[in-house]
Amino acid sequence: MCGIVGVISKEFNVAPLIVSMLKKLEYRGYDSAGVALVQPGKVVVKKDRGVIDDIRERYNLTKMEGKVGLGHTRWATHGAPSHKNAHPHQDCRGEIAVVHNGIIENYVELKRELVIRGHLFKSETDTEVIPHLIEEKLAEGLDLKEAVKETVKKLKGSFAIAVVSSKFPHKIVAAKKGSPLVVGVSEEALFIASDIPAFLQQTNKVIFISEEEIVTLTGNKVEIETFNGQKVKRTIQTINWTYEMAQKSGYPHFMLKEIEEQPLAIKETLRSTNGELMEIVEEIVKNEGNLYFVASGTSYHATLAGKYIFAKVAGIPFETMQSSEFTEAIVPTLSPKSLVFAVSQSGETADTKVSLKKAKERGAKTIALTNVLGSSITRIADEVCYTYAGPEIGVAATKTFTSQITLLTYLALKSAEVLGLEVEEKFRKLKKLPQYLSKTLTTSNLAQRIAKEIKSHGDVYFIGRGVGYPVALEGALKLKEISYIHAEGTGAGEYKHGPLALISENTPVVAVVTPGPSQTKMVGNIEEVKARGAKVISIAPEGNKKIEEMSNFTFKINREVDEFLSPAPYIVPLQYLAYYTAVLRGLNPDKPRNLAKSVTVE
Ligand code: F6R
Repeated sequence: MCGIVGVISKEFNVAPLIVSMLKKLEYRGYDSAGVALVQPGKVVVKKDRGVIDDIRERYNLTKMEGKVGLGHTRWATHGAPSHKNAHPHQDCRGEIAVVHNGIIENYVELKRELVIRGHLFKSETDTEVIPHLIEEKLAEGLDLKEAVKETVKKLKGSFAIAVVSSKFPHKIVAAKKGSPLVVGVSEEALFIASDIPAFLQQTNKVIFISEEEIVTLTGNKVEIETFNGQKVKRTIQTINWTYEMAQKSGYPHFMLKEIEEQPLAIKETLRSTNGELMEIVEEIVKNEGNLYFVASGTSYHATLAGKYIFAKVAGIPFETMQSSEFTEAIVPTLSPKSLVFAVSQSGETADTKVSLKKAKERGAKTIALTNVLGSSITRIADEVCYTYAGPEIGVAATKTFTSQITLLTYLALKSAEVLGLEVEEKFRKLKKLPQYLSKTLTTSNLAQRIAKEIKSHGDVYFIGRGVGYPVALEGALKLKEISYIHAEGTGAGEYKHGPLALISENTPVVAVVTPGPSQTKMVGNIEEVKARGAKVISIAPEGNKKIEEMSNFTFKINREVDEFLSPAPYIVPLQYLAYYTAVLRGLNPDKPRNLAKSVTVE
């Protein structure tokens, strides 16, 4: 999981731009970084372990000269974070530099062969085989593009790479197989990057690179061809995200900004449906009970909420499974009658991609729901829908979660409508969801107070029932991933089967009391933990006096919010709680340790 960038300009030194682009891709990984600039007769590389700001200072990166260059921000997969393992990597003579995102599965064999042929390796990475393979091809007399083309044919695994060479000083050649890659086009320069925010400040004109394609940037020309040498014509697309949308807009952290953008984000999600997506709805409705969601992490929690919502409003039975288990547990049972619906904000999660590919191999119909235009899963699935929540930079998913749930709710209601069920009133309420979410932003103050109470606890437990269950799981995930406090979400009904043993005097228990039939049972579950001394923090419909009396703190949610709409508004106080707890503990919620925004390795 890394970010790669490249810039080619006729006019100016590109190093400052490369550094600023890397900063914008830090959410893809941030354990090491580096820059390569093409200079007469050589490629100069500066890189190290650490975050980009420190490396920039240490090596004076922005003062490096050159009009063609590459950059890389790393999240280690092969080889621990270190100077030698940081990218760019080079050939034996230092004439070539390569940045890579992904994994080269056959690098051990390739490295062994290259070493036998006399190549000298400096790192423990899989990537380093690439510049050495290109070196051999250039020595055979191929030009840079042909050398890259011959090299990528030897690589197994997933990669997006960008390559420069001092022998071809006015070119960047990049290739994609399984990892994202996009070109930016402006009057002054051409850009290549793993993701659009890297160059959004410079241009919103983009060209998406597809699977197994090579792109050559020269002067102001962009040439694309397939690994098999077929020329590809691709139109330039204009992206409507402004640079400001991808920035913090005055908030201390992206996460807080993204929490508070949720009313707007889900408004966009609803607007984008245009009352349509009928191909997807028809696929769901005509399917005879072999419906599966597949997703990871927060997206998995969104599908779990989706499962309850489809069942409750349309009587449609979806199963859901985490992507990392899907290939073992579900794929062998799939047939052309099955429908597999993948949900991933990034569209790049390796486990989700693999599940979708394997589902296709079994003949299943496939649907992808994502926030990232042109992302990998959109190119695998038969049908695609987008959340249009805007870029999410904070590593912890917030607005993409609520927009995923919103889109799934819309699809559930549309399916119910096609089945002839009465849903007019529910659609009317769905339209009000942005308003309901706006109101939950007032829970911020109480969340700050409660964060002070829980910040020094070692364990926090979350319970919920029905649609409140996925909210409890998600609340726990948010807290653990950014505050590093042990947090566990469990179905409240399961408590007496074991977890109740963990509750003692002052243990914080967060109880998600969503509207609907589970409310009464939740009263019993809260009593159970209270009797063992738990400090109860509840989220409940406004006016539920019983819950308020039993709780030390209560987040009150508008009573108009119906059960089927509740997961999105009910998660907001828990996103705040996680955020403020992390901040009080002196942590940066945007960059939790050991985690990265898109998990592109299995
Ligand atoms: C948690 C979080 C992760 C992601 C998971 C899947 O806040 O963001 O758990 O939800 O890595 O990512 P996507 O949705 O991109 O497939």
